[in-house]
Amino acid sequence: MTNEIKKEAPANFKVTIDNITVEVAPGTSILNAARKIGGDVTPPAMCYYSKLQGSGGKCRTCLVEVAAGSTADPRPMPNLVASCRTNVMDGMIVKNITSERVQDARAGVVEFLLLNHPLDCPICDQAGECHMQDLGYEHGKEGTRYEFKRRTFELEDIGPYIQLHMTRCILCYRCTYVADQLTDNRVHGILDRGDHAEISTYISKAIDNDFSGNMIDVCPVGALTDKTFRFKNRVWFTKPVDAHRDCSTCCGKVTLWQRGDDVLRVTARKDEWGEVQSYDGKPGWICNTCRFHKKKASDWVIEGVSNINRHSVIAQNKYQGLIMPKETIAEVMGGREPKLLMDIHSISDVNSVDISALPGPATSKTFEKKEQ
Ligand code: SF4
Ligand code: FES
Repeated sequence: MTNEIKKEAPANFKVTIDNITVEVAPGTSILNAARKIGGDVTPPAMCYYSKLQGSGGKCRTCLVEVAAGSTADPRPMPNLVASCRTNVMDGMIVKNITSERVQDARAGVVEFLLLNHPLDCPICDQAGECHMQDLGYEHGKEGTRYEFKRRTFELEDIGPYIQLHMTRCILCYRCTYVADQLTDNRVHGILDRGDHAEISTYISKAIDNDFSGNMIDVCPVGALTDKTFRFKNRVWFTKPVDAHRDCSTCCGKVTLWQRGDDVLRVTARKDEWGEVQSYDGKPGWICNTCRFHKKKASDWVIEGVSNINRHSVIAQNKYQGLIMPKETIAEVMGGREPKLLMDIHSISDVNSVDISALPGPATSKTFEKKEQ
């Protein structure tokens, strides 16, 4: 089990990432140093997951350029490096968004990841919270240069709770680490190599474990999705609400995804990096009972609307901490209120018309006429 999070050692290595300097402890990876700065400076990570030991080093989306290795040896590193697997040195200078090489390489990595990935976002339950979708928007191209048939797999039913779509899998290994580190027995893994690689058929056995649902939360794409939520709703139409219950198996702290009073889905709470949140130094994995069997609002103590990043499509009109832009017109006009250039209400009564008083057939005729 990797439930304990190491206490941070004192920060005394200075590293500069995209011209921003931050102090971190020796042994910190470049990715985690960038996360300390936050924002666009932080490279994307499709396979690294800080709460899963050994994760990272598989997808290459987190590549960065090291322009100077350290104060002691300021030579640049000749190749781009995986920031999740490369530790900082004192005086290191790193380029991410300020490096054309990195942007170019990342576009190439995205192209590779999309070679076999089906473009089924319109019917995929992960849409709206898919890291591959975000990467595609940022670095993807409209077309593909790939001329061969995409990989296909025998459909496999892995039980009543989790839907496996092997065609969407990017082989990040996160689900195997969950099985390895949260359950007693890992019974699935990656079989074969290269184009034939797939997560093994024994995944169906891993599903029996009470913490198997966490594989859904760590999967960065729609390869593992919640069968109890499947096709029920688009995630951006639901309302995420923080809730908790007294659970003897897990932390019991979850996000309920509601439509009206109906609970459509239950997930662990995520942090700003899309990873499960930690409480008292322990990751807040949730058990299958909380995830799949507590689908009534009355099962939970509701805490309030979840704090969703306002740039996320899920945040539409319902994120907390909304800061409206400052109204500056009156300020620059010496305190005078702005006048509307054209106030339609002063010249038209269109909004005052009582629609219910209009004769039905005549109205539709009017529209028909207009459309011709
Ligand atoms: S199923 Fe998801 S979590 Fe598992 S290896 Fe594939 S992409 Fe990663
Ligand atoms: S996140 Fe670093 S290689 Fe995947």
